[in-house]
Amino acid sequence: MSLNNEQFINQSTPINLPLRGKYKKSFGYVSMCERMPKLFTQIINYLKIQPLESNEQQEMENVIEEIKLLVDEIISNKPLRKINATFKLALVWNQILDEKLASDSIVSWFDSEWLFTENYMYIRIKEAFAKTSSLQNYDPFECLKSNAYNESELSMISLAEFILLKLSNKELDTDGIYILFKQILKISLWGNRCDLSLSAGKSMAVSEDPSKAIVSLDKYLLADHSNDIWNLMQQISCQKPKKIDIIMDNSAYELFTDLCLADFLLTFELADVIVFHGKSIPWYVSDVTKLDFEGILDHLENKSTHSALKKLGKKWSEYYKNGKFILKCEDFWTLPYPYSKIALKDYDLYTNLADSQLLIFKGDLNYRKLIGDINWIPTTDFKQALCGFLPTAVVALRTLKCDCISGLPLDYETKIEQVDENNWLTTGKYGVIQCAK
Ligand code: F6P
Ligand code: MG
Repeated sequence: MSLNNEQFINQSTPINLPLRGKYKKSFGYVSMCERMPKLFTQIINYLKIQPLESNEQQEMENVIEEIKLLVDEIISNKPLRKINATFKLALVWNQILDEKLASDSIVSWFDSEWLFTENYMYIRIKEAFAKTSSLQNYDPFECLKSNAYNESELSMISLAEFILLKLSNKELDTDGIYILFKQILKISLWGNRCDLSLSAGKSMAVSEDPSKAIVSLDKYLLADHSNDIWNLMQQISCQKPKKIDIIMDNSAYELFTDLCLADFLLTFELADVIVFHGKSIPWYVSDVTKLDFEGILDHLENKSTHSALKKLGKKWSEYYKNGKFILKCEDFWTLPYPYSKIALKDYDLYTNLADSQLLIFKGDLNYRKLIGDINWIPTTDFKQALCGFLPTAVVALRTLKCDCISGLPLDYETKIEQVDENNWLTTGKYGVIQCAK
């Protein structure tokens, strides 16, 4: 570790300011000093053992060298440089970097906003592959994602059985649908515990029966606006066509839970169309790309051996073919902007989102972008923390993996267990279901 300690400030990020790694008690500091080097070592180890054609091998070695250099740059707090590639997203990033370099006196890993630098890190990984001729579309996280899928398959089977049973019950009255809605919302929330960038690439085996697990997790739910969300769904239920957007986070188990949520919304006619938003490049290790999305549908339908998974896979592939499930992977999600800037930076995306009845944002990174990655006082109203971003009703399902949060009730501290006093914001153990309209 080659950091000059004088550059750092021994406190958390000050209240109401964006998180930055230069604050030694911020999670960004820990993340860049410890988690990222560990994660990259793990990824390099995977890349080294991937079966490759002989012409690809040398190029993979070059990529590995680039990743090692990147880690060195991070831990020595080097200035950020422009992206050395010409793919479309790289050009957009270079424009953003030009603006940043023109406006900020120092643009470096620990001095700049952590949200900016962490997003930048993933475009640098993409750059390393883009420079090759044979590995341009290589997903360095693919293997980790497919391991995560395999390790959570038992949980998916039990969730699939639960969903098939509940969704086939045509006798359910409104109260029954409401109870089921709350259960499925929680299943999708806790699915967000499974991200591979927090666990440094190690997948968290999910093996409990999810419908039972959600009850035992209630004590970790720090804010629950499910009632408001349900009331909102009742109001939109007469609009046509009802479009709900899910801004996805992670592949494998979390994606499976999101597909269950989407299926529930279609089955009980709470929506006519579900638009899923994924990432256009490999991102934050486990985030869903087009290949991951189409891959899980194909795997469930054609490769899984369990009948419940097959059945859901067939149904969901059909939804995908007939346009009830739509997938979009806009570049905006891989830019470093808070969502209060969408209208300014990507007006087409903003108007498309505004045309939806409900936007469901999954996960930690989406949440950070929703609230501007600002160290709000935790009881700050969620809507206020969105800084004006409200194209339509916004829902967040997020387990807490970083030190910014909003919208907690005044007595939230009574819910934090004593053992978590110092790390409740960052372990992914606690979660929120929040809504603004
Ligand atoms: O490293 C930053 C971070 O936002 C963490 O807080 C979290 O571990 C990870 O990236 C992403 O989590 P998620 O997959 O839930 O967005
Ligand atoms: Mg993620």
